[in-house]
Formats: sequence, structure tokens, C-alpha cells
Amino acid sequence: MRKPFVAGNWKMHGSRDANARLVQGLRTAMTAPLASHCDVAVCPPFVYLADVAVQLQGTPVALGAQDTCAEPGPGARTGEVSASMLLDVGCRYVLVGHSERRQFHGEDDGLVARKLSAALAVGLTPILCVGESLQERDAGLTHHVIARQVDAVLDAAGVAAVGRSVLAYEPVWAIGTGRTASPEQAQEVHGFIRGRIAARDGNIAGSVRLLYGGSVKASNARELFAMPDVDGGLVGGASLNAEEFVAIVAAAARK
Ligand code: 13P
Repeated sequence: MRKPFVAGNWKMHGSRDANARLVQGLRTAMTAPLASHCDVAVCPPFVYLADVAVQLQGTPVALGAQDTCAEPGPGARTGEVSASMLLDVGCRYVLVGHSERRQFHGEDDGLVARKLSAALAVGLTPILCVGESLQERDAGLTHHVIARQVDAVLDAAGVAAVGRSVLAYEPVWAIGTGRTASPEQAQEVHGFIRGRIAARDGNIAGSVRLLYGGSVKASNARELFAMPDVDGGLVGGASLNAEEFVAIVAAAARK
């Protein structure tokens, strides 16, 4: 019912040469049957988007960005990139509210909701990231934090907007640490998120895709994606290796 989806977040990695090699690897390994069973996207840094858009032509891999300005633009916002610019260079998706934006750039729930709306307004599909820190989990606050992050967007943008988005649960303690959430831990929070959306609209809750992110690798993807509410992955480090990334896509395609 929900088509699996795997997105690669390259974060602040890459160079023109390295990206060209990575995309060539994806072009070779991403077979048509795989792509017909799983949506796939990669999210390079802003400066490489236009290059990578050209390199991805003729492949089933879509382009995404890692962030967007919350203002529609054009305008006086030095250093910012608007959603319409992302669309202009070929993006289809954009991450909003990644924990590294929340943590290192002070992005709060209100700003994240405005970014989501800005993306939707131009026809991009936002990938809304939520997740608790280790301290929050240890303090028993996981549901509290996730509810706050999800409800902020439901309240500000509306449930229909969330329905036109993809959500990603990324526990901060599992990002780049090699410490993956267990399939049961992921399922538990995914079920909670779906329930939170169902409280507003059951149909939307049933159709929206919920990705898991945090040390997803080829070796653990299959068991994570076997969970009923895990519809795919948002992959960081492992998306920088074409073989590893495509193996994760293959695991999702078998779902
Ligand atoms: P890792 O897969 O490197 O843990 O990163 C996850 C992530 O933050 C993807 O957005």
C-alpha cells in the first residue's frame, strides 16, 4: 500500500569528483525492477545540486536538498536558498528539521513547520525529520518530544500538509554512532507517530510514509524494514557508498 522509500543524506560530504563516481555507481547498480518497488532519492549539499541533477538524468534516482529557507523569496536573505530555487535546479524532495539543523543551527519546531509549508508551496515533497536525544530517551521523554515535534507541524501546517510529506524518525543517539535503534524500538516510535497523525486524520495516517534513520546499513536494513510501520530509510554514512546504498534500497524493495 505504501511504496517503500529510501533517501540518502550526504550531509557535508563530497566533491565534484567523488559525487560523479558515486552517481556512476548508482547508475550501474540501480536496476529498473529495484526502482519500480522503491522510491529513491539522494540529497547532496546545495552547491552540488545542479551538477548531480545532470548526472542523475536517465536514472530512477530523484534529487533532494538538505534544507530550505522558510521564506518564499526572492529577497534579502544572505546565505539562504529558497524552495523555488531547489525546484528550479531539479529537486523533488527537501529535508526539513534534520536534527543537525535543530542542534547546530537553533532551528525550532515553528521554523521547521514554516520550512515544510514553504517546500509544499512550490511543489517539493518535504521529508520532515523528528527524533529524541539520548538524554531525552533516558529520561523517558521520547513520546513527549516526538509528540511536540509532530504536533507543532500538524498545528501550524495542518494534517493535509503532513499527508503530502514524508516523515523520518531519526533518534539523535543513533545518528552516525553505529548504534542503531532496534527494529522494535523503531516500530514503537513509528507506531506512536502514526497514531499522532491518526488522531487528526486516519486516512492520512495510513498512507503517509515513515522512514527510519540512524546508522542504517545493508546489514541491518532488512530487519528494520520488516517492521510494519517502517516504510524505508533515511540513510547518512552508508549512502556515500553506492553498493551499500543500493543494497539498502534492495532491502526496502523486498518489503
Ligand atoms: P547515519 O546513517 O550516518 O547514522 O545518519 C543518519 C542521518 O542523519 C540521515 O539523515
